[in-house]
Amino acid sequence: MVKKILVTGANGYIGTILCNKLLRKGFEVIGWDTDYFKDITIGRYKNKYYSKRTDIRDKIKKLNGIDCIIHLAALSNDPMGALNEKLTLDINYKATITLAKKAKKMGVKRFIFSSSCSVYGIAKENLVNENSPINPLTAYAKSKVLVETELKKLRDDNFCVCLLRNATVYGFSPRFRNDLVVNNLVTSAIAFEEIRILSDGSPWRPLVDIQDLSEIISKFITLDSKAINGEIFNVGFDESNYRIKDIVKYVKKYLPSCKIIYTGEHGKDSRSYRVDFSKIKKILPKLIQKWPLEKSIHHLIKKLNQNFTKKDFDDGKFIRLTHLQNLMKVGKLNKDLYWI
Ligand SMILES: NC(=O)c1ccc[n+]([C@@H]2O[C@H](COP(=O)([O-])OP(=O)(O)OC[C@H]3O[C@@H](n4cnc5c(N)ncnc54)[C@H](O)[C@@H]3O)[C@@H](O)[C@H]2O)c1
Repeated sequence: MVKKILVTGANGYIGTILCNKLLRKGFEVIGWDTDYFKDITIGRYKNKYYSKRTDIRDKIKKLNGIDCIIHLAALSNDPMGALNEKLTLDINYKATITLAKKAKKMGVKRFIFSSSCSVYGIAKENLVNENSPINPLTAYAKSKVLVETELKKLRDDNFCVCLLRNATVYGFSPRFRNDLVVNNLVTSAIAFEEIRILSDGSPWRPLVDIQDLSEIISKFITLDSKAINGEIFNVGFDESNYRIKDIVKYVKKYLPSCKIIYTGEHGKDSRSYRVDFSKIKKILPKLIQKWPLEKSIHHLIKKLNQNFTKKDFDDGKFIRLTHLQNLMKVGKLNKDLYWI
C-alpha cells in the first residue's frame, strides 16, 4: 500500500496546496524545497506537513521507505528560464533525472512529474492533444521536454513514471504567485481597479484550478501502473480552455468598479490554442471539475481583497523571477541560486 510520499517543491504555490491535501487523505508527507518562496505568503501561514530544506542539485542521500515521489521542484516559468538558461537546465532537467535514477535504484515505485502545456509552444493545430507535435520555445519548456523523454526511458515494471502536462494554474494558495494570468488579472483589478489586456482578448488559454490540479495529482498516486506508466496526460478539463476576455468578464462581475482597458499592444495574439483533455478523462472518468474559473476567481477575490495592496503588486514579491532577483541583489542568494 502507498503510504509515504516525497513532494519536491513542497513550499511553492502548488506544493503547499498539494501537501495539505495529501495529509488530509492520510498519506505521510515529506517535503523537500530549497525554500526560495517559503516566507512569501498571503497573511500568516504555517505548514502542517514536515518539510526539510533541500536543494535537489545536492547529493541525494535518503529515499528509504518512500513509495512515491511527486516532483514539482523547478524554476517554474519562462521568464525564470530567461534569468539563466543553464540554471534552468541544471535544476529542471539534470537534477530531476539524477533524482529519478536514484529513486529507481532505491526502490521508489512511482515518479510523478509536473510538466507543462507550454511544451506545445505556438501550436500549429487549433486543438492539441498528447500526440500533437511539440514546439518548446523557451529554456523552461525545453527542460520539460528533455525530462519527459529521459523519464520514459527509465520506466519498467517496478518503476512507474507519470508525465503530467499541466495547464496554467489559477486560484488561491497561501504561497501565492502573481505571474500567472488569472491571478495577475485579479490582483491588478484589486490593487488598481484596472485590468489591462495586451491583446484583443480573443486568445484561448488552457487553465486549471490549483485545488482541482492537486486532486488530480493525488489520484495518480494510486492509479493502476499498467494504464499510466510512461504515458503523457494533459491535465485539465474539457471546460478548461478559456478566452482572456472570459477571465476578464468574471473579474469584472465580482469587482464591478474596475475598468477594463484593451491596450492591443500585442495585436492579434498568435499564441491562441486549445488543449484536448479527453485522455485524462478516460483514465479518471469520475473526476469532476470542482473549481471552474468563475467560482475560483470569486474565491480568490474574497481571499485577497483585504490582503493585496498596490505595494504588493509593485514590489513584485509574488512574481517568482523578481523575488529571486531581489534575493540575489541583497546577497542572500549567489548567482547559482544557492543560499549564502
Ligand atoms: N503554476 C503553473 O501554472 C504551472 C503550470 C504547469 C506546470 N507547472 C509546474 O509545476 C511545478 C510547481 O509549480 P509552482 O507554480 O508551484 O511553482 P513555484 O515556483 O511556486 O514552486 C516551485 C518550488 O520549487 C522550489 N525549487 C526551485 N529550485 C529548487 C531546487 N534546486 N531544489 C529544491 N527546490 C527547488 C522552489 O523553492 C519552489 O518552492 C513546477 O515544476 C512547474 O514548472 C506549474
